[in-house]
Amino acid sequence: MGPGENHLPSPSHRSCLLLLLVMSNLLLCQGKLCPSCGPDVSDTSLTSLRDVFTDANRLSHDFHNLSRIIFSEFDEKYAHGKQYHIRSTKSCHTDPYNIPEELEIALHTNNEDLTVWTLVLLYAWNNPLYYLANEVPNVKGVSVAILLRIIEMKNISDKLQEFIQDQFSKSIVPVLQKMHDTRTTWSGLSSLTSSDEDRRHSEFYNLFYCLRRDSLKVDMYIKILWYRVP
Ligand SMILES: *[C@@H]1O[C@H](CO)[C@@H](O)[C@H](O)[C@H]1NC(C)=O
Ligand SMILES: *[C@@H]1O[C@H](CO)[C@@H](O)[C@H](O)[C@H]1NC(C)=O
Repeated sequence: MGPGENHLPSPSHRSCLLLLLVMSNLLLCQGKLCPSCGPDVSDTSLTSLRDVFTDANRLSHDFHNLSRIIFSEFDEKYAHGKQYHIRSTKSCHTDPYNIPEELEIALHTNNEDLTVWTLVLLYAWNNPLYYLANEVPNVKGVSVAILLRIIEMKNISDKLQEFIQDQFSKSIVPVLQKMHDTRTTWSGLSSLTSSDEDRRHSEFYNLFYCLRRDSLKVDMYIKILWYRVP
């Protein structure tokens, strides 16, 4: 536990945040969750800091929303009546990082760890997203609509990475260290390009399932960071 430990949100703030997470109603919850654990800023830059966080908050919301749409479109169009959810391993290339998805844990985590987790997830998805986005015309077996949404997600991910790198530059070294130590890579490429349709679809199913899960974490962490801006 780091410095955030002493700044646990009060129960009322917690339920307020919960509401915020559920409804994304940014205006309902005005208050200071963690006044002293935000990024270092002077008073003059507070307004612009709030603005960049509000932008990031919107981006991460869209990021997760797109992943939900992609998963349900794929599920409806290609996985209906198939047993991909049973057959697929339901393991994600980001699992070895052990990044928690429980709101309670995230709320009790300091900003540095939250930004490290966010960046690790975004970096870890660069490979699959870039691959899919750049191979749009060549990827068989998913609709153009889905692939366009993936390109949009990749664009949003780039912007979120820039945002975190700018605001929390101290996190970059621990992120790279964590990724270096964990040594996990995405290895679904050969399945995505397989001529066996079932194998391909099964891999897409798994990938989109993981993307939806991880993008929810990213969205949650960024909302918490946003909420802690004084
Ligand atoms: C999710 O995205 C779709 C398509 O862009 C949009 O129509 C919908 O309003 C979005 N939903 C939320 C909750 O933002
Ligand atoms: C993604 O970003 C590229 C480069 O900035 C842009 O040309 C493209 O229109 C964007 N695509 C989507 C779907 O957002």
